[in-house]
Amino acid sequence: MADISRRKDDHLDLATTGDVGFKQTTTLFECVRLVHDALPELAVEDIDTSVQVLGKRLRSPILIAAMTGGSERAERINKELASIAEERGYAFGLGSQRAMHKHPSRSTTYAVRDVAPTALLLGNLGIVQAAQMSNTEVQSLVAVVGADALCIHLNPAMELVQDDGDRDFRGGLATLERLLGLGLTLVVKETGCGLSSHVARRLRQIGVEHVDVSGAGGTSWVAVETHRASSARRPLGQAFWEWGIPTAASVALCAPHGFKTIFATGGVGSGLDIAKAIALGASAGGIARKALQALETGGRLAALAFFDQLEAELRATMLLTGSSNLRALTKAPRLVSGELAEWIRVAP
Ligand SMILES: Cc1cc2nc3c(=O)[nH]c(=O)nc-3n(C[C@H](O)[C@H](O)[C@H](O)COP(=O)(O)O)c2cc1C
Repeated sequence: MADISRRKDDHLDLATTGDVGFKQTTTLFECVRLVHDALPELAVEDIDTSVQVLGKRLRSPILIAAMTGGSERAERINKELASIAEERGYAFGLGSQRAMHKHPSRSTTYAVRDVAPTALLLGNLGIVQAAQMSNTEVQSLVAVVGADALCIHLNPAMELVQDDGDRDFRGGLATLERLLGLGLTLVVKETGCGLSSHVARRLRQIGVEHVDVSGAGGTSWVAVETHRASSARRPLGQAFWEWGIPTAASVALCAPHGFKTIFATGGVGSGLDIAKAIALGASAGGIARKALQALETGGRLAALAFFDQLEAELRATMLLTGSSNLRALTKAPRLVSGELAEWIRVAP
């Protein structure tokens, strides 16, 4: 039990203060320019930022993305961020529930329904762990925390860099197919390397309807594991630090495949980023590390101020593009240039 808790706390330390960002790779949201509307004919109070996602209405298209669980510190962070999600009408993602599967006494560190009774709540499991669990075990993990949906995370790059990480990723699609048969709402998510068009197509073929692209440009999980790796394994991590599909590209590549939900996570740090993600086809923006940093460096007030700024920027972008609601924002005129245009043109 100590091992898992230590690993979770290491992740939290590294994500709060460590050098774990991509260095050259960006989200490519900078390649999207939304066209200014000098005659918007709207008042700020007319702007409706609400959206229906996974059966619940979010007041703003924001997901506080999966981060933690399993330790006392994780419990405090989950409760604080989940209560903010409840207060603000955002969605909230729990971190991998592997720790509570191995040690059921750790379930309390994921319990947020007392502070977030109505928020859209996402459970979380790695695909390799899910493959090894029975249907009943998976269903029980979702039921115990009262989640509305279960995120299954894909993270082959970070596993390869982790000393004791998984090395065998066969049977992923078969696992997802089995889980889809359980009647759970599944969200298939990456963890910072993005989903390609090829992956999106295969997910749609088996009936996956909801994804979180978790693309490159924000937190590099290869970087996190590189810091934790043995000296023998560290060079592999250094070589793959920048690996992944930029978030804006991944959203644009997934959008044509007809998913019901696309969360745009990975380096999202402003309301303008969220607006651009929605214009490219996302349902909502997801934020992990920046929310954690705001909370851990400045407490609840700093986290609330961070989200205030995000919401103000989103509203401003909507007004300045003449978009009274998020549906209108999806049709806002935009210019897509540079590397993002290349991704959209050539990426398989
Ligand atoms: C401290 C921390 C822990 C994370 N743990 C998980 C996890 O358990 N499961 C998961 O699916 N993603 C996890 N992630 C990945 C995030 O959900 C997200 O996909 C990724 O960090 C990119 O978003 P960001 O650039 O906003 O941090 C974690 C991220 C952070 C910062």
